[in-house]
Amino acid sequence: MNDPGSTVPAATRRLDPDADGLAQAAALLRAGGLVAFPTETVYGLGADATDPAAVARIFAAKERPRFNPLIAHLADRDTALAEGTFDDSARRLAEAFWPGPLTLVVPAHAGTRVCDLARAGLPSVALRVPGHPVARALLEAVGRPVAAPSANRSGRVSPTRADHVLDDLAGRIAALLDGGDTPVGVESTVVACLGGCPRLLRPGGITRDALRAVLGFDPAAPAAADSETPVGPGMLASHYAPRARVRLDVERVEPGEALLLFGFGRPEGHERARAVLNLSPAGDPTEAAARLFGALRDLDASGAATIAVVAIPAEGLGEAIRDRLARAAAPR
Ligand code: TXA
Ligand code: MG
Repeated sequence: MNDPGSTVPAATRRLDPDADGLAQAAALLRAGGLVAFPTETVYGLGADATDPAAVARIFAAKERPRFNPLIAHLADRDTALAEGTFDDSARRLAEAFWPGPLTLVVPAHAGTRVCDLARAGLPSVALRVPGHPVARALLEAVGRPVAAPSANRSGRVSPTRADHVLDDLAGRIAALLDGGDTPVGVESTVVACLGGCPRLLRPGGITRDALRAVLGFDPAAPAAADSETPVGPGMLASHYAPRARVRLDVERVEPGEALLLFGFGRPEGHERARAVLNLSPAGDPTEAAARLFGALRDLDASGAATIAVVAIPAEGLGEAIRDRLARAAAPR
């Protein structure tokens, strides 16, 4: 029996991203079910963004403590542009980076199809046109905006492969489209264009340098939390957290710690680490971003009480990596 509307599906179907799998996934979404799918950043936990009951199931499956606003995913730029009001900056960013790992927060159109619950009652809406071919094909087949946070339990590390999704959500979601490893590995960059200077709410797959090159200036920092710019899950101090404690910028490894390296440098005592992974032996931040969340999950599985992480430079995707690691290390 498979009731796509049921909050607790009997089993989670693992679907291949072929024509049949995509058709099944789209049908489940259109019937109000939850379907995880790959994007170029991380796996998303999708629900029909026009249906508040479907969106509510996302919060239940993730055990998200509060109703934070979700990103609505659209199949192409024109359908995304129709959901909100784009000022000159927003339009330029959409043209430069969609499809791609950029989310734009803009004033919602009065007639937006993205329901109130997905927007957490805000006058704004977060929109993204993903570039991953499986995500695009799925969105095309659904023909509606799809709300999707990362497909992990709230507070846990975001999933970059199908098994990560099942580790957290098996039995809680109707289906999972298996698209292999997600290439970017960190979530989308979130930029708010709500009048005045665009604000960088979350560093991510599009670098600050790339934003500056299109805008001609640096985006502003987020405003202090107010009704317009809520503190979302991605902005909570503690987030993206493995089970183990995370210690940053280590120069010396303590016995029994797991060690996360970047580049060829080795901290003192590295030989006594319980487990070692290198995000990028060549010191490439793009490669490191793609491996980050998988490495945190794998080092967690070593059973170490602490994951020691060497310093990672803030260049390129390094800014997003440092942001996620700082949240993983924050007091819980
Ligand atoms: O790469 C990604 O962005 C992934 C994939 C699945 O697309 N999704 C993702 O969603 O990371 P989530 O829910 O984990 O993060 C969405 C971020 C949150 O920090 C949320 O607060 C912010 O976007 N956000 C959404 N709507 C907003 C709004 N109206 N105003 C301000 N921030 C908003
Ligand atoms: Mg998330």
